[in-house]
Amino acid sequence: MIDATTKRVFIHEVSVRDGFQIEKKFVPTEQKVELINGLSRTGLAKIEVTSFTSPKAIPALADAEAVLAAIDRVAGVEYAALVPNVRGAARALASRVDEMNLVMSASRTHNLANLRMTPEQSLEQFAEIVRVSGGQAAVNASLSTAFGCPFEGEVPETRVFELVQRLVDIGIDRVTLCDTTGMANPAQVHALCATVKMRWPNVVFTAHFHDTRAMGLANALAALQAGIDRFDASLGGLGGCPFAPGASGNVCSEDLVHMFEAMGCETGVDLDALLGWARRMPRIVEHDVPGQVMKAGPSSRRYPVPEGLGSGGEQQRLAAADPASTYHRGAG
Ligand code: COA
Ligand code: ZN
Repeated sequence: MIDATTKRVFIHEVSVRDGFQIEKKFVPTEQKVELINGLSRTGLAKIEVTSFTSPKAIPALADAEAVLAAIDRVAGVEYAALVPNVRGAARALASRVDEMNLVMSASRTHNLANLRMTPEQSLEQFAEIVRVSGGQAAVNASLSTAFGCPFEGEVPETRVFELVQRLVDIGIDRVTLCDTTGMANPAQVHALCATVKMRWPNVVFTAHFHDTRAMGLANALAALQAGIDRFDASLGGLGGCPFAPGASGNVCSEDLVHMFEAMGCETGVDLDALLGWARRMPRIVEHDVPGQVMKAGPSSRRYPVPEGLGSGGEQQRLAAADPASTYHRGAG
C-alpha cells in the first residue's frame, strides 16, 4: 500500500556537481552561479554546488572556489560540496560550505578507480576531516556503489552495514546510500533502506539513485516506503561518475518532484519554477537531456479538445451511447 499523503520529503539538487562533472563541455562559472542562484529560489532543501577534488581528476569542477565565492546564500538552503580527502576538506571549509559531502565507495575496486585509495584509507581521511573540521560544517558521507559495483558486481548488505557503523564511530550522522551505476532494484532498495533506518535511527539517511536502467523513480518510491525522506536528484537527469564504466544520469529532479507531488507527498519545491530551470539545461550543456516532464509537461497539463468534440451536444451523445466512456470523467 502506498500512503504518502502526510509525508514531507526533501530534495537535494546535484546537477551542478554530479551532472556537470561528467560533461565534456566546461560550463562557465557565471552559468553555474546563475543556475545555482535560480535553483536556490525553487524550494530545494540542499544544493551540492561543486566538488573539491583534484582538478586533474575532475576538470569540469576546477572552479569550485570561484563558484562558492559568487553564489547567493539563500536562507533555508544548505550549500554542500563533495570532498574526497583532507586536502579537499580544507578547501571546502575555506569556501564556507554548509556541508562537506565526503565520498567513498562500498566496493574496494571502485574506491581505487575513483579516489586512488582503499576504503580503509578513505575512512582514515574521514576521521581526520571530522577531527580537524571541529564542527565548522556539517559532515555527510556518501557511500558509492552501495547497491552494486560495475567492477565487482554484488555488494553484500553486510558490507554496507559495516561501513555505516564505521562512519557512525567516526562521528558522522548523515549518510547517503548511492546507486552509482543504476544497479539497484526496488526490492533491494526497500530491504536495505528499511534495515538501516531501523538499526541507526539517529542517522539522517539520503538516497541517491541513477536511472541507468530505468529503475530510478521506482527505487526512489521503494526508499520512500522504507522511510527515507531525503533524495538526491539532478535537474534534467544529468549525471554520472567519470570513473564508473557505464554510468549515466541521476534520477531527474523535476520528474521526482512531479511524482511525489502527484501522489500527495510534499516536496516544498515549486515545480513550475524548477521546470523553468530544467528547460534551460539543454542549452547549458549543449545536448538533449533525459528529463521527461520538461518535455511532456506535468500531468495537470490539458490540451484543447479536438474540433467537433468541444460542444456539449456531441459529448452528451457519445456519453449516452457509452456510459463507461471518458466523456463522463472529463479529459482522459
Ligand atoms: N583538491 C585539489 N587538488 C588535490 C586534491 C584536492 N582535494 N587532492 C589532491 N590534489 C592534488 C595534489 O596536490 C597533487 O597535485 P600535483 O600533481 O600538482 O602535485 C595531485 O592532486 C595528486 O595528488 P594525490 O594525493 O597523489 O592524489 P591522487 O592522484 O591519488 O588522486 C584524488 C586522489 C582523490 C585527489 C583524486 O582521485 C580525485 O580528486 N578524485 C575525485 C573523483 C571524483 O570526484 N569522482 C566523481 C565523484 S563520485
Ligand atoms: Zn551519483
